[in-house]
Amino acid sequence: MDLDLVVKNGVIVIASEVLPHGLQIGVKDGKVACIGINLPTSTNTQVVDAEGAYITPGGVDSHVHLAQKNSPTGDGWEAGSRSAIAGGTTTIIAFASQEREDASLYPVLEDYHAKSKDQSYCDYGFHFILTNPTDEILRNELPVLAEKEGITSVKLYMTYEAMKLNDRQVLNILFACKTLGMTTMIHAESHDMIALIIEGLEKNKNTEPYFHAVARARIAEDEASYRAISLAELADAPMLIVHMSSEIAVQHVRDAQTRLLPIHAETCPHYLFLLSEKIKGESHDHFSGAKHVCSPPLRHDPKDLDGLWQSIANGTFTTFSSDHAPSKYDAPGGKRLGLVDGIPRFSKIPNGLPGVETRMPLLFSQTPACQSPEKARLSLPRFVQLTATNPAKLYGLDGKKGSIAPGYDADFVVWHPGSTGACTISQSILHHDMDYTPFEGMQIENWPRYTILRGQVIWDQSNGIVGKMQYGRYLKRGMGQVLHGKTGNLPQGWREDERRYWL
Ligand SMILES: *[C@@H]1O[C@H](CO)[C@@H](O)[C@H](O)[C@H]1NC(C)=O
Ligand SMILES: [Zn+2]
Repeated sequence: MDLDLVVKNGVIVIASEVLPHGLQIGVKDGKVACIGINLPTSTNTQVVDAEGAYITPGGVDSHVHLAQKNSPTGDGWEAGSRSAIAGGTTTIIAFASQEREDASLYPVLEDYHAKSKDQSYCDYGFHFILTNPTDEILRNELPVLAEKEGITSVKLYMTYEAMKLNDRQVLNILFACKTLGMTTMIHAESHDMIALIIEGLEKNKNTEPYFHAVARARIAEDEASYRAISLAELADAPMLIVHMSSEIAVQHVRDAQTRLLPIHAETCPHYLFLLSEKIKGESHDHFSGAKHVCSPPLRHDPKDLDGLWQSIANGTFTTFSSDHAPSKYDAPGGKRLGLVDGIPRFSKIPNGLPGVETRMPLLFSQTPACQSPEKARLSLPRFVQLTATNPAKLYGLDGKKGSIAPGYDADFVVWHPGSTGACTISQSILHHDMDYTPFEGMQIENWPRYTILRGQVIWDQSNGIVGKMQYGRYLKRGMGQVLHGKTGNLPQGWREDERRYWL
């Protein structure tokens, strides 16, 4: 067979193990054709020499916000996907977001298809954000969207005035998704606890950005996470709790997993690397702390970070996503919305941080590829699980994305060999459309040297972005897999026959 591409001299890492040194990857028609030794090349074969570096599956970032109406200064598809590939991510799952007044999801989807078509450097799919889950949508639209459009997951919010659902609405969605085999993602924070604290802070004129971290107290995440798990347990439906920042909340997930409930957890780079100190801003400009306003907020204590790192290593977290949801700092309609007549008002600052580009390098830097075994925070296979294999499986892209094996799309990251890829994160090296990075000045031990999507080199660090904007394809996804526990459990305390009395 005439191979289109051979990647040689690398060390391939997949979810289960680090493969023996020197295996080559052969690519034909955008897919992995074979993995072997001394693969045949012809004059038509492109050869990429990894020079001894690690090769990991192209990143799957399953939590990316692009071109949403509620973030007018955020990234659109062009900038977001460009930023993704420069950081080793070849697939993003972004959101098609329903507004309260949208009675049907079809026009919403059409709108997001229009915003993304021929605008993406990487492959992409959509989750639906539901803010108005009518019976019509749950009964008649979701099945069609899953079947025809390959949208097999929804995201719900328990907080934010414009998005929040009550527990009954969450239950209705969970029951509908369970029937369809869809996955539910949930933003778990107690809206009422937070609203009460914000009121008190504003009354006492404590309105600088830092008070965002006071308002969105950890207990609000802990309570809502436990509530979300209980709702999923009642409905016997799989769930993923997004962007978890609290060790106690994560323990609730762990307990549920131990009871074999299908509960999954996600965390994000900012919760592993940054603390609420950042929201205090610079000493001469406290408002600059707005650059670090996201929800849940950055937590106070280094101990919070340790608990999350442990859950990264020990398997409690299923996915590691960017939650790229940026707003420009110095722009009207961006973070400056939080300056009202010159007075800082934390509750008016748009939430969210950029991070799609820095996600993979930040985590890779904590593996044994870059750290001594004692200092490494997670293994290389665990890195692959969290950044690629698990999100691909959870969201119905398995067999196509998230691994390096014959038949899979030829999506890889080739890292720099040894310690030659170290650099410092700064706004000036990034490819998003934002005017800052929350990780400014952080030392990185390695950065993707090449990003390869379906057999094409699309990022080459020496030459920059070499892919084309039209190259990214829309992905119709299949049904997701349950990666922790199983469905078919009876809620705690129930007898065998209790469900049938009412269901
Ligand atoms: C993983 O670490 C977290 C955080 O320390 C802890 O709550 C959880 O019980 C641990 N799980 C296992 C299986 O050790
Ligand atoms: Zn989000």
